[in-house]
Amino acid sequence: MNFTKIVMSTLCVSAAVGACAPKAQQVIPCDKAVEAKVEKVLSGMTLQEKAGQLVQLNISTLEDATREAIDPAKLDKIIGQYKVGSILNVMHDAAHSREQTAAMVRQIQEKSMEAIGIPCIYGLDMIHGASYLTDGSLYPQEINLGATFNPEYAALMGRAMAYETRAAQVPWVFSPVMDLGRDPRWPRIWESFGEDPYLQARMAAEETRALQGEDPNHIDLQHVAVSIKHFMGYGVPLSGKDRTPAYIAENDLREKYFAPFLACFRAGALTAMVNSASINGVPTHANATLLTGWVKEQLGWDGMLVTDWADIDNLWNRDHVAADKKEAVAMGINAGIDMIMDPYDPECCNVIVDLVNEGTISEARLNDAVRRVLRLKVRLGLFDKPVWDEVYPDFASEKYARESYATALESEVLLKNEGVLPLKENSRILVCGPNANSLRTLNGGWSYTWQGSADDYVPQYNTILEALQKRYPGQVTWVPGVVYDGSDWQKDVVASFQQVKNEAKKADVIVCCVGENSYCETPGNMDDLNLSANQKQLVREAASTGKPVVLVLNEGRPRLIGDIEPLCAAVVDVMLPSNFGGDALAALLSGDENFSGKLPFTYSKHINALHTYDYKVTEHRETMEGSYNYDAVMDVQWPFGHGLSYTKFDYKNLQVSAAEVKAGDVLTVSVDVTNTGDRAGKEAVLLYSSDLVASLIPDVKRLRGFEKVALEPGETKTVTFRLPASDLAFVGGDGRWRLEKGDFRLSCGGLGTLVRCTETKVWETPNI
Ligand code: BGC
Repeated sequence: MNFTKIVMSTLCVSAAVGACAPKAQQVIPCDKAVEAKVEKVLSGMTLQEKAGQLVQLNISTLEDATREAIDPAKLDKIIGQYKVGSILNVMHDAAHSREQTAAMVRQIQEKSMEAIGIPCIYGLDMIHGASYLTDGSLYPQEINLGATFNPEYAALMGRAMAYETRAAQVPWVFSPVMDLGRDPRWPRIWESFGEDPYLQARMAAEETRALQGEDPNHIDLQHVAVSIKHFMGYGVPLSGKDRTPAYIAENDLREKYFAPFLACFRAGALTAMVNSASINGVPTHANATLLTGWVKEQLGWDGMLVTDWADIDNLWNRDHVAADKKEAVAMGINAGIDMIMDPYDPECCNVIVDLVNEGTISEARLNDAVRRVLRLKVRLGLFDKPVWDEVYPDFASEKYARESYATALESEVLLKNEGVLPLKENSRILVCGPNANSLRTLNGGWSYTWQGSADDYVPQYNTILEALQKRYPGQVTWVPGVVYDGSDWQKDVVASFQQVKNEAKKADVIVCCVGENSYCETPGNMDDLNLSANQKQLVREAASTGKPVVLVLNEGRPRLIGDIEPLCAAVVDVMLPSNFGGDALAALLSGDENFSGKLPFTYSKHINALHTYDYKVTEHRETMEGSYNYDAVMDVQWPFGHGLSYTKFDYKNLQVSAAEVKAGDVLTVSVDVTNTGDRAGKEAVLLYSSDLVASLIPDVKRLRGFEKVALEPGETKTVTFRLPASDLAFVGGDGRWRLEKGDFRLSCGGLGTLVRCTETKVWETPNI
């Protein structure tokens, strides 16, 4: 795509926005009153003020020597002189109470209104609830939400997160995260909903609506603006390491990686944060085709694009696509960036001023970017109420605690059970492993601090050990065996295997809690996806006693356990279930509650065979015939969607409303699900399609629908899916969506049926 053409035509589109000119397509409806206010403010601004609106600084630039309060002289400089329009993050790099946070924001707003007459916009990384408030509520991480296969939990978390963030006078969160977790080596897969584009899109859009409310033009005092992130393709670096290059075919980018972003733009997402790294050699912050072309032009999106942390600097000092900062700033803004998160450098404002004076950034592009920032502030009501006196009675309420617990219950996944679970009432339980007595590991990163430090902030919640001790008073013994060592999250050391073996003699069952310590972003990089050698040895030593081992995995990504899994009588993956995750696990292990989580990712078995469920038919010998029958096997530990229950579900009568479809038709697919066991349970019913012949090698299957149903013993429910035929389309090599004539197999719960598409349709527009 021609770069100049994109930028020019976007500017024409944007110039018309002030008046809400009729346009072909606009994902967020234009609101005349909002636009009028934007134009009025814009018309009175100086160049310095405009430049300041495009810059976001870290709160550390305002901190005094204590790092707990704002230095008034710095406030004068940053807001008064540089006229910076946005601040992010937390003082002293740590969580503060709602009151402390609100007081800090009030002080900044007062200055901003006095010095510029434009409110500042404060943004925080609220990732799984109020991550940065000491007294707020946390929910399980998004990867757990994915495992519930129940979008209602994304909505509950979104609503609570919005409410508690607003209660702290903050109107903007850098959430939800929708990088597809398609490479288990990458240290951020737990921040999003799993590996599948459809699951990710449903959950992220639900969370977006819950965070922002129903009307993106008028966000009320119970809601906040989202920053969907990280646009896009961030989650599959070739090296597996954070912020390193990805190489993604354009059709995959459009069909899979764009899907959750598209769903969120359509749900009204007001801002998006850009992928820190690069795709096919182009740093995303300089990618005009994606930023301006795909989002602003093709969708007519009038929201705001913010960079990730220092990523304009990365264009020159890391990526070497610009010679210096000045060139990098011009490159980013001309590619479509509207706000630069330049954490420590207010001089960025002057660089923008110079670039506009020189003409390297046009007045039109400058004004377009400023409009987008102002529009966000108007939509949030910040001009009318830079701060607000609303009361928030539900802040940190029991209601949110109950929701967090319920989410944890539905998200922990029973992967294997040879009959040892539920635990018997009179069991003597030996608990071991480095994750047994830690809130930090239950929460993961973005929990009170960036790297996660829940134990320091909320010791009142129960670890797995404490929850089991409460559920089985006097029956639990605790010997760690292996412990995490200090600040290096990857380092664990052997405490004593012998003690574990001694205590095992007196126990009926061993609950061995292993996994990872908390981490976030680049510090979470590692060189071996295998569970650590010490922890594997702990499992071997425990199993050598002959007592049944219940393996509990508490980890942000599927660490490989192929060699020790056969030694365990049961395996549960709790992932990162947060503050009530220990209580939820005790209720599930004891059988007080039933498991219903399913894996939102493929749990791989071998280091050289990391898969996703939607692999190409040519990758597996069962789906491949032909002259080269390679030894291709999909030998995974557990597939995407795997998850056991204490009851059994039987699927019958998979029906489809028509045997033949055309592109515009909508199919109805139904299936009867019966609980054939003797206890109540919930089942996530997953509908897949397979394109049997296509002009590009088809994926073996794709998730097209899911629904979670609750069933009493003996009860049957008919689950019905609405399936537009266009959902069966894929993106061809030319970047266009295509639905092709031919047969599709629909499958659900082991049943299958064929549907024939009787026409081929290619969509000219980028998205259908
Ligand atoms: C992360 C983002 C985050 C930003 C602001 C970056 O390092 O990649 O996810 O929103 O910092 O804290």
